[in-house]
Amino acid sequence: MAGTYQKKILITGGAGFIGSHVVRRFVQEYPNYLIYNLDKLTYAGNLENLKDIETSPSYRFEKGDICDSDLVSELFHQMQFDGVIHLAAESHVDRSIENPLEFIQTNIIGTVSLLNAARENWKGKESGKLFYHISTDEVYGSLGDTGLFTETTPYDPRSPYSASKASSDHFVRAYENTYGIPAIISNCSNNYGPNHVPEKLIPLFINNIKNNQSLPVYGDGKYTRDWLYVIDHAMAIDLIFHKGKPGGTYNIGGFNEWKNIDLIQLLCKIMDEKLGREKGTSEKLITYITDRPGHDRRYAIDSTKISQELGWKPSVNFEEGLEKTVDWYLANEEWLQHVTSGNYQKYYDKMYLHRS
Ligand code: NAD
Ligand code: TYD
Repeated sequence: MAGTYQKKILITGGAGFIGSHVVRRFVQEYPNYLIYNLDKLTYAGNLENLKDIETSPSYRFEKGDICDSDLVSELFHQMQFDGVIHLAAESHVDRSIENPLEFIQTNIIGTVSLLNAARENWKGKESGKLFYHISTDEVYGSLGDTGLFTETTPYDPRSPYSASKASSDHFVRAYENTYGIPAIISNCSNNYGPNHVPEKLIPLFINNIKNNQSLPVYGDGKYTRDWLYVIDHAMAIDLIFHKGKPGGTYNIGGFNEWKNIDLIQLLCKIMDEKLGREKGTSEKLITYITDRPGHDRRYAIDSTKISQELGWKPSVNFEEGLEKTVDWYLANEEWLQHVTSGNYQKYYDKMYLHRS
């Protein structure tokens, strides 16, 4: 491909929840970049997420598996990428408890396959290149009632998902140290927003409230997460990609901690209003069920570094973001129907039926 682009960037997992927002942002903000989206289109990958930008001249999509090292190596050779933003992953903790091997395959082997291709292709010309690995705050483990995860908090992953992400982070650092690949890692808190498959807490509960289905709250409902609007994460990724220091780690979070049950009550209130239902209707759907095994009690991110070094801060507060998210799901009935048809019901029945 002719080198008419200012930069050529490989984005992996660009058809997924966060990836699609990152792809859209880069295609729209940087028309001089070639944006190459490599995605296997698992249950979580959905090209409908990118309908509005799919015909942009600077955008390419390829369906492929990051674990396919021949494919990945050939792609690097052919495209001569300047940078990688690596989001492709298996991302749901509950699925990792059911099937850890799939997480090891994609999250660890897949990451190493990409690192190998970067290593071969960038050898001797590493300057100006960047391997940007998108990770999670879950690698730091679980907090008690106080404290925040900083960039120097020791890794202490506790689920198969977080262990696979922690391992991939270590491989990124190992390749940086051993082979001189310029790399950055960011560790973000829980995201929410449009285009999220209804298996994670917020989209699942929106969908269930809409359908008058029970709201399965794990354990005592007092588990705490730090929530960030997905578009603010995409903005942080853009900043870090362009201005972050190679070798660095950036924690991204909204200083926005919610106990699950408080969040669910707020969501119920918003849904009652939006659906024109009597106050208190949705809350009646709350059902406490058996806890997730090994459930991490609390995550909370200290994002001082990215705010001081790069001037990033979230653009929407939680109430506003949650309302926008609800509006999006109610306005995108067809998207929701496509995502919840097929294997979705089988997954739902397996995870939630007979669990009280
Ligand atoms: P997602 O599950 O919605 O999307 C993952 C995407 O990766 C999908 O498009 C899927 O098709 C693709 N994919 C999966 N396996 C692949 C493979 N072997 N080859 C190529 N493509 C493959 O995930 P998400 O929530 O958008 O998360 C994206 C990244 O951000 C992940 O690395 C995740 O660990 C990280 N992260 C997520 C959150 C969150 O709250 N969702 C928070 C922090 C970090
Ligand atoms: P989730 O969205 O799966 O994200 P993560 O486990 O990566 O933080 O879950 C967020 C919180 O909500 C977590 O404490 C588990 C809880 N939860 C429920 O109570 N019920 C559910 O059906 C789901 C999916 C999650």
